[in-house]
Amino acid sequence: MRKVLVIHGPNLNLLGEREPNVYGSVTLEEINKELKELAAQKDVELRIVQSNHEGEIVEAIQNARHWAEVILINPAAYTHTSVAIRDALSAVRVPAIEVHLSNIHAREGFRQSSHVSPVVVGQISGFGKNSYLLALEAAVQLPLPGKEK
Ligand code: DQA
Repeated sequence: MRKVLVIHGPNLNLLGEREPNVYGSVTLEEINKELKELAAQKDVELRIVQSNHEGEIVEAIQNARHWAEVILINPAAYTHTSVAIRDALSAVRVPAIEVHLSNIHAREGFRQSSHVSPVVVGQISGFGKNSYLLALEAAVQLPLPGKEK
């Protein structure tokens, strides 16, 4: 059973009411429900956290080294600003997949660079809630050195 930690960054708790023209009408609860359903089908043990605080996200990543085999992270605005989150991902050496609802490369210039991208396995961006579901599929299929799936 693969162990996957999902981390949702700041303001994602407001999905549904937040800029629906950009992020759609889906709520975080709906995304988490679909992730749990897919996890059950794929034999994945899933833990999900959301935080609006950079330090809490750093701690969630640090704690993941004791448990998670793969991290899915949407760092939200911290994608573009946080060296601390990048360093935490780098430090724990748990493979991570970067997730964005919107296509950050097609948006404002300040969103087009990610501090996190160089230390993750890959990025899935622009598919709305399906970005998370595709990332979970990728997490299931990710080869983990020394481990069977
Ligand atoms: C986001 C994109 C970020 O630029 C933004 O700050 C977010 C959400 C996304 O999922 O598309 O909060 O990470």
